[in-house]
Order: sequence, then C-alpha cells, then structure tokens
Amino acid sequence: MQNQKFYFECHSCGEIINGFEQWFEQGQKCPSCSSKWVDVRYHQNFSGIKTMINKKEGDAKSLFDYFDFLPLMDKENIVSEGEGIIPVDQWSFLEEYAKKEYKLDLTVLAYRNDLNPGTGTFKDVAAAMAASVLKEHGVKQYCVASTGNIANAFAHYLALAGISLAVFIPEDALQSNIAGVSCYGQRVFKVKGDYSLAKKLAAEYSQKHNILMSGGNIDPARVEGKKTQVFEWLRQLGYVPDVYVQALAGGTGPIAIDKGLTEIKDLGLVDKDPRYIMVQASGCDPMTAAWNKAKENNFPEGWENDFPIYDSPKTRIPTLANGNPQTFPIIGPLCKKTGGEIITFNEDLGTKIARLVAFETTVKIGPAATIAVGGFFEGLKQGIFKSGERILINIGEGVQRSPDLLDDMVYTSLEVGHIDECDPIDRQRFKETIWKPFTSK
Ligand SMILES: Cc1ncc(COP(=O)(O)O)c(C=O)c1O
Ligand SMILES: [Zn+2]
Repeated sequence: MQNQKFYFECHSCGEIINGFEQWFEQGQKCPSCSSKWVDVRYHQNFSGIKTMINKKEGDAKSLFDYFDFLPLMDKENIVSEGEGIIPVDQWSFLEEYAKKEYKLDLTVLAYRNDLNPGTGTFKDVAAAMAASVLKEHGVKQYCVASTGNIANAFAHYLALAGISLAVFIPEDALQSNIAGVSCYGQRVFKVKGDYSLAKKLAAEYSQKHNILMSGGNIDPARVEGKKTQVFEWLRQLGYVPDVYVQALAGGTGPIAIDKGLTEIKDLGLVDKDPRYIMVQASGCDPMTAAWNKAKENNFPEGWENDFPIYDSPKTRIPTLANGNPQTFPIIGPLCKKTGGEIITFNEDLGTKIARLVAFETTVKIGPAATIAVGGFFEGLKQGIFKSGERILINIGEGVQRSPDLLDDMVYTSLEVGHIDECDPIDRQRFKETIWKPFTSK
C-alpha cells in the first residue's frame, strides 16, 4: 500500500522508506546502509500547525490533536488516554532562589509529565504513539528493553491495544516498575545483569521469535510522539523555552525536540533552538564524562564517538542507569549545537530536592525528576544560565513508583504517647531546614 501521508528518510544516506510497513519488513533498518535512524517526513505542509497551536485549553485532548503530523494513517487506530496535554507550571520559588543567590532574573517552568494519565511519566506520549502504530499494522507481539519507565508505559498502552509485550529489565529495576508491567499480564524478563544485558537479550529474543523490538531512543514512533511537546509549548506558552533541562539516560527528549523544531523552522514561530542542559545522576554519568573530556580538548575530530562504557553502574536512580551511552554521538552534538551542556547532579541530594519541591509546590516528584530539578541547582552553581532566560525543567515522573523515595521524604513525624508531646506546628518553621542544603548561609 502506498503511504500518501508520510515516508521515512534515512538520516545517514537519505534512502527513502515507505513508512512502517516497509520499515518493519526490513528489520527496522535502512535497506541501503543499515542505519536505524530515520526521520519521518510528511507530504502535508506544516503551516496547518498554526491552527492547532491556537487551540484553547479545554479543546486540547491528547497528542493526537496533532494527528496530521504523526505517523498514523487511520484515526481508528489511535490508542490514547489523553496523554501529552499536561500543564506547564511556573515555579516561582526557584525564580526567587536564582534571584537571591545568583542575582539572575529567570523564568522557571515545570513541565508536568508526572500528570500524564497512562503511567505518569514522559514515556506515555511515546508509548501511546507506538501502540497506535503497532495496532495499525496488526502487530500482536512486541518486546522492549527498559530501565523501567518505558517498560511501564509500553505495558500499559500495548495492553490497551490488545498487544502482548515482553519487557527485558535490569536486575536493579524498582520492584514497583516490575509490578507495574506484570499486573497487566505482560511478561517481565528480569535479566541477571544491567541495562546493556537487557538490551542484548531483548535483541536476541526478537531475532529468535521474529518479534518486533522497540528501536530505543531513536525509534521513529517514540520520537514522533515526543516531538509534540514542542507544539504544546507553543500552544500553551506561545514560545519555545530558551533552555530545556532534562534528566538524561539515552536522550530521546532532545532528539524529539530537535525533530519538532526542524519541521516548523520555516513558519516563523520559533527564532532559536533551546539550549539543552542534560543532567546525569552521579552514580551513572558516562555522557558527562565524555562531554567534559571533549570540552577540555576543545572538541577534537571524532569527539562524539569517544565515550566510556560503565558496566553495571551503581546508582540510586535505576531509571537513569544507562551505562552504555550509544546515543552520545547524537546527544553530544545536539548539546554543542545549541550552546547546551551535559552535567552531573549529586544523586545523594535527591531526597532533599524531592522534599523541597513537595514543600514549595505540593508536587511529589520521582527519582529521575529529582535529577532534573537538581540539574537546575547545579546549573546555577556552574554559571550556565543567563539572566532573562526562560528555563523549562522536564518533570519526567512523579513519586508513585518509588515508595522508597517517598519513605525517605518523611521529616516531621514524631512518636508520641502523651498529649503534652503534641504541640501545634507552623509548617513554615521547616522552611529553613528544607532550604539549608541549597543556601549559602
Ligand atoms: C522520568 C525520566 N526522566 C528521564 C529519563 C531519561 O530519558 P532518556 O532515556 O530519554 O534520556 C527517563 C527514562 O526512563 C525517565 O523515566
Ligand atoms: Zn541509509
């Protein structure tokens, strides 16, 4: 069937592929050069996006509002629960902090992916898109390797689409992530090793049983789903932020944002790329190491292919435990192109960040999101932000799948046996303690 809506173009050699049908048939790689990275191109002109981004608040339903620019042929195949239409909050407590401590006038925005209805992470848009594509192509079995959140999101949306999923997950994954997949009747293969082993076994399983496997950070369905965040910022804010801060494992975020921006670059809606500030957890930061080395050496020829591989990284943030950063050759140059940075946040401060955010906003952020918010503090310390910048922090997940983090957030609890021990409190009294790890005084 000739696809009249979109086609793929190989990122490396420019070969044209006729959509997902041919893509799946050819083992999800370019028939000419075997590259796994393709860009989806649409026949329709993107000027139609202008009407879409003028939608009022209540009229927006899901990322599929952007159906004309998504790689799906028939609306009947949409698998959605309303993901992708999430608020951008302004976090003035961080603006005041930047002003007071660093004399910077910043706008600080929080992109509330924790409010996505599927599984409460920023993987929901990618999974909804992937599930819709798989449904459209009659796929009944699928597999994915994941550190946790993508597994949950795929398990959820594929179950909605009636598709069976096998998830390969590292042995240090959160138990709640395993439970979140298993409860839908989807299979969990907990591998005796790290994420690299999970990826290896998933690939072998895919091959052995001839079952399609998710293409990872550059999977076209995932990238197309996530690119809609650019359109959403334009719809909600009227602009694309100057700086985008995200916790980094593989980096689908910047890849997708860059794709969305490229599509609309001739429409006069955006005048520049956001600077990508990618934040790794201190327990697993191979991309920061590679970035720092490249920077120290003035980005020598081939720098983007020079990165370390950490076996079985020890981190308290299992979701970010990607020790083999195969996407560094993409993420490194994207950060460089936009004047961004790859930095590390001390993950031991994660709980303190989570308490601070809960105290100031009532939002209970999850482990990976503590790294993103922590990255804002680290960025201030390193002098990365400039006065006047509008900074958007991706709150990629809430705390719901990390009961350990929630337990750690307890700090006002007292054991009592007598009424004389029960004095009224003023919660403002805790403010100083909460802020102490982050203030100079
Ligand atoms: C909440 C959250 N933030 C950040 C990341 C890292 O995403 P990426 O692999 O696209 O860098 C993940 C990955 O699972 C995540 O779940
Ligand atoms: Zn090619």
